[in-house]
Amino acid sequence: MEGAAAGWPEPVVRVQSLSESGAATIPARYVKPEAERPASAAGEEEGGGGIPVVDLSSPATARAVSEACRDWGFFQAVNHGVPGELLRRARGAWRGFFRQPMEVKQRYANSPATYEGYGSRLGVEAGALLDWGDYYFLHVRPPHLCDPRKWPHLPPGLRKTTEEYSREVAALCGRLLAAMSAGLGVGEARLREAFGGAEGAGVCVRVNYYPRCPQPELALGLSSHSDPGGMTVLLADDRVRGLQVRRRGAWVTVDPVPDAFIVNVGDQIQVLTNATYRSVEHRVVVNAADERLSVALFYNPRSDLPLAPMPELVSPDRPALYCPMTFDDYRMYIRRKGPRGKSQVDSLKVADAVDADADADGRRCY
Ligand code: OGA
Ligand code: NI
Repeated sequence: MEGAAAGWPEPVVRVQSLSESGAATIPARYVKPEAERPASAAGEEEGGGGIPVVDLSSPATARAVSEACRDWGFFQAVNHGVPGELLRRARGAWRGFFRQPMEVKQRYANSPATYEGYGSRLGVEAGALLDWGDYYFLHVRPPHLCDPRKWPHLPPGLRKTTEEYSREVAALCGRLLAAMSAGLGVGEARLREAFGGAEGAGVCVRVNYYPRCPQPELALGLSSHSDPGGMTVLLADDRVRGLQVRRRGAWVTVDPVPDAFIVNVGDQIQVLTNATYRSVEHRVVVNAADERLSVALFYNPRSDLPLAPMPELVSPDRPALYCPMTFDDYRMYIRRKGPRGKSQVDSLKVADAVDADADADGRRCY
């Protein structure tokens, strides 16, 4: 089959096709172990509110962003300056893509070599349990990674809208990065420099499409993970909820503010800030009544720089927690194994070494 030939370990099944088949039950490969199912929250949701809402037009923005990144790793950004009309156009264009006939979408079928295109799984392990979602993944920047052949031609306006959307949201990411940096007390340009400069930063878009699911209590649209890159700016569905954030063991459902973006810290910012800011696990639940669409833009450091905690945030009291690694190497983990909570960033932790190879601090990187 086409899917297996394209480098996947087994033929790719489109979740949209399963959903539209009208079957009353889902295949066993989409059934999660009991402990991961939506109902089995490890704790109680706290009362009141959910993730913080940050007004980006306020003079106190840097402080509010910094507090949210320390405390939650997630916030909703309002008054962000990206026109509501563009948000609606981006959603509409991508809803239009997923509504096209399957044979049109299949022209863009992706492979695990770069993941660009129309996809239905993350990870290449044969026999892995799968998530109830299809997606479209694109590289936008740097220019040498942006391949127009991988962008859909239809519906009309999708390309232009996606270009405009990603330009505006990438510019917003630059402002958010400056606020995050200022809030660390290291100057507003410092994180941008650590990312390899605005020109070096990588921008990718992942449009998530979660079809209706006949047994939503058994499945997840996207399993628990933290985002591997720098930061993520998510345009959530305007009607259907589904994103949940892990907070003190409980799963908190995000209630999107109309026209807001949901912003979260990725693993690379956790590493650079020596865990002052933390990437937080999140997942997506699905439902039987409605499909759901979200547009995630990932803003990543230049991919060939070894990244490690910034020296300003390292001291004898707070030694470097992570070993250096480039984002090119780092992202191979999720691309091979699929979403697995926070296990990857934890694997970068400096090991306490007891043998003679240890450095002066008694620690080392493997
Ligand atoms: C992601 C993600 C959440 C959502 O694409 O990494 O977490 O609501 N998406 O689709
Ligand atoms: Ni995510």
